[in-house]
Amino acid sequence: TDFPIILGIESSCDDTASAVIQNNKILSNVIANQKVHQSYGGVVPELASRAHQQNIVPVVNEAIKQAGISKDKISAVAYTRGPGLMGSLLVGSSFAKSLSASLDVPLIEINHMQAHILAHFIDDANENSPDFPFLCLTVSGGHTQIVKINDYFEMELLGETIDDAAGEAFDKAGKVLGLDYPSGPIIDKLAKEGNPDKFKFSKPKVDGFNFSFSGLKTAILYFIQKEVKENPDFIEENLNDLCASIQKTIVDILMEKIIAASEKSGINQIAIAGGVSANSEIRNRLNELAKSGNYKTFVPKFEYTTDNAAMIAMVGQLKFERSIFADSTSKSVSKYTL
Ligand code: KG4
Ligand code: ZN
Repeated sequence: TDFPIILGIESSCDDTASAVIQNNKILSNVIANQKVHQSYGGVVPELASRAHQQNIVPVVNEAIKQAGISKDKISAVAYTRGPGLMGSLLVGSSFAKSLSASLDVPLIEINHMQAHILAHFIDDANENSPDFPFLCLTVSGGHTQIVKINDYFEMELLGETIDDAAGEAFDKAGKVLGLDYPSGPIIDKLAKEGNPDKFKFSKPKVDGFNFSFSGLKTAILYFIQKEVKENPDFIEENLNDLCASIQKTIVDILMEKIIAASEKSGINQIAIAGGVSANSEIRNRLNELAKSGNYKTFVPKFEYTTDNAAMIAMVGQLKFERSIFADSTSKSVSKYTL
């Protein structure tokens, strides 16, 4: 076939990833997770950039190999320009520029947050892709946003967090419970055996479609400190119920706002994206919402939720089709609006 083949490279945070796409179909999707951050309770930027530097060549080579193509078939190289950690972004950027120069193919710069959303257009991301306009709840370790998507590259921010991101709320709560980083997937797993109504945490009052999660973290911390004073084994004895209750509180906050945004905008197509959309509770709640009959919801395939390069390659393809190219002076940016 003559469809262009795009190589994507993602290095914005703590995952080094590369993927190959052709005609909306993912030919390979390779990811190297960085274990070095596990015991630190968060990503250590200096360690992240070093690990990217170590991983990037083998990860890209593996993506090309698994796609079953030769390098000279690559039509363009797409890379994450931002937002993210500067030291991490620079590794992907430098490598993508060198590769595009040596292959003599166009360079394409990608907004990581747009990519999380546009991952829904990957062939096997969903049963159906959303139609425009749709709403997307983008929830990751660094961001929590409600976005109205009018077209591929026409996005409107309706609301966002005024402090911590939803993923951070999971990760910080996990740290209080003594769990490893990232705690989101661990809390998700432990919550399955827990009672979500055992502990109540108050929800923040925030205007419009904005979010706030820093108060929740403090509430959890104080509650745990108080209980542990009386019973040193409190966490151990209640771990599953604590996880289930914390998870329910976070998901309730997210669901309330996205439903309010849907009612206000009259848009009943709701998608979720970003690392926290891997959460089984939020996935269930969106599936239930769809079953209620009034909404169409879009829950992407698991591997396209947390950071990956398939989504970068997808947006690379969309930009290639529109001849939206970067030049070799393209600069990484730690903040990048939609
Ligand atoms: O999108 P992502 O991989 O990286 C960023 O761009 O931030 O999101 C990572 C975040 C972390 O905070 C992690 O704890 C959270 O997503 N996460 C989850 C789950 N899987 C990942 N949170 C809740 N439940 C999960 N299953
Ligand atoms: Zn992300």
